Amino acid sequence: MILKKVVIAGTIRADNGLPMGIKMLMEDRSAIDAVEETIKMVEDNTDDWTVGSGGLPNLLGEVELDASIMDGRTLKAGAVAGIKGYKNPISVARKIMEETPHVLLVGEGAEQFAQVMGCEKADLLTENTRDLHRDFLEGKGIIEKSYDTEETMKTKERYFKSFQRMVKDSNLMEWYDRYVHSNHGTVNILAKDSNGDICCGVSTSGLSFKFPGRAGDSPIIGAGNYADNRYGAAACVGVGELVMRLALARIAVYELSKGATAEEAAINAIKSMVDLAPDKGSVSILVMDKEGNVVAACNWKDYYYWLATSENPTPEKKDCIFVDLELLEKDGVGYHR
Ligand code: GLY
Repeated sequence: MILKKVVIAGTIRADNGLPMGIKMLMEDRSAIDAVEETIKMVEDNTDDWTVGSGGLPNLLGEVELDASIMDGRTLKAGAVAGIKGYKNPISVARKIMEETPHVLLVGEGAEQFAQVMGCEKADLLTENTRDLHRDFLEGKGIIEKSYDTEETMKTKERYFKSFQRMVKDSNLMEWYDRYVHSNHGTVNILAKDSNGDICCGVSTSGLSFKFPGRAGDSPIIGAGNYADNRYGAAACVGVGELVMRLALARIAVYELSKGATAEEAAINAIKSMVDLAPDKGSVSILVMDKEGNVVAACNWKDYYYWLATSENPTPEKKDCIFVDLELLEKDGVGYHR
């Protein structure tokens, strides 16, 4: 029997789910199953403050989640935005893809759908994120709790500094501009199964302490997520508004369709951000070509992703390619213009 190469890749906090994802693919499970189950593990990890349970809430202290999934075999997709009270938004997104004619359900409608489909409910706010939100609102500063670690204290300090700037600010545009760059996180999972089918999934609690109802790129097909078996797939992390304005994942897959390598597609997608100048912000893109080669590029240094394959099933940490947009801007290099 010839073992076909299977691949799964994910962004920084995906390492807890990837061993199960690669195992599923090596047992000939579909890329869609592997992506959903891997993302569920990341969503269920309460130590990740950017996705699912334990994700940081909006300004009102409510956790609103966004997720999407795309099947590269059929180009079908499903997505939810601003869903509250459901444990695994990626599973709701998959049900939308497979059991409705729709692509995107939002807010209460998404919750009603999830209820009808019997999706599991959960209180997404943890002791940690509830305290953090309340302490910020009450202006108490950074309080060390019994459950805090060195790492959570550092994260708290970072959030506190940006939140402090926010509450002093009455100008939403100015607040957003100062705040957005260090307050987001998302999980991207790309997989290729033993049939050669590709799937891409994304899940996030979005911008922390966001304006209620704000949705980013993650539930927008073409922006934060795109997959097409014929060419490959791409997904994004970072400032959702910038990713949406460029339809960045679609740019990368379009590049692949024109013969670019995964590396060229990822770099060109990040380069396209120059077209938004003077608007700027952190964005990374994870790209897989149709052969299962994976690359990530981003516009900040020292970022990484995880890769597991049938040849090397233990998830390996890989560096993202740094694209220096400051240099490109000086040369007037863009993508669309
Ligand atoms: N990229 C995630 C967000 O902006 O919500």
